[in-house]
Amino acid sequence: MIIVVANSKGGVGKSTLAVHLAAWLHSQGHRVTLADCDTQHSSSEWIKEAAPEVQVVRLDDAKEILDQLPLLDQETDFVIADGPGSQTETSLALLLRAELAIVPCKASMLEVRALAKATDVLRQAQDIRKGLPSAVIVLSMIGKNYRLTQDMKDAAAALKLPLAKSAMTLRQIYADAPGQAKVVWQMGSRAKEAADEVQQIFHEILPKAAIRKPAKRPGTNAA
Ligand SMILES: Nc1ncnc2c1ncn2[C@@H]1O[C@H](COP(=O)(O)OP(=O)(O)O)[C@@H](O)[C@H]1O
Ligand SMILES: [Mg+2]
Repeated sequence: MIIVVANSKGGVGKSTLAVHLAAWLHSQGHRVTLADCDTQHSSSEWIKEAAPEVQVVRLDDAKEILDQLPLLDQETDFVIADGPGSQTETSLALLLRAELAIVPCKASMLEVRALAKATDVLRQAQDIRKGLPSAVIVLSMIGKNYRLTQDMKDAAAALKLPLAKSAMTLRQIYADAPGQAKVVWQMGSRAKEAADEVQQIFHEILPKAAIRKPAKRPGTNAA
């Protein structure tokens, strides 16, 4: 399955989400490739240390993306593509190949309004592919006391994009993670809340990817 983390705005949390998603899927026993499609290459540097078993590739242009993603998809269970922060052919190429687009968006009315423009390319791809990729907005960097307002719900609904119930809170620990080359669940007790919430997002978006708790076999409890 090819999943792209897409929003043609920079600084909204794409790389943070992509690295955590790739590391989480690996921790659930899947074979994962992280395709770093941003010329800044921040997510590939980060994941190499945080989850060295995740395969890393850098795909810098549209042709490479269109050619390589299907091959990578055959080799691994999940390909997580970290998209660029611009409206380029690269973004369109990713959306033409992905099954799911996760769209991180900062939680403010201004940002949600800007999403209409930032998801232009997504709509183009969905138009070409008759609805694919499916897409979901994940609010990133929400304040601790944040309440989802009706305005925000309406704005998301107007874009015909579902909004995930779980979200990422604005926390220093996320900003510290790349410097320590870790994902938040490797960062000890001060990262517990972040670790819980980010995994909650992945359970919500990709319920089938989570390890199923093994069913208790009858008789195994016998003393
Ligand atoms: N939930 C969060 N709380 C605090 N800082 C965050 C959070 N998510 C991302 N950041 C920080 O914000 C900046 C932009 O995030 P990044 O994931 O690089 O966005 P993008 O890939 O969309 O440009 C980075 O410095 C990152 O560490
Ligand atoms: Mg990035």
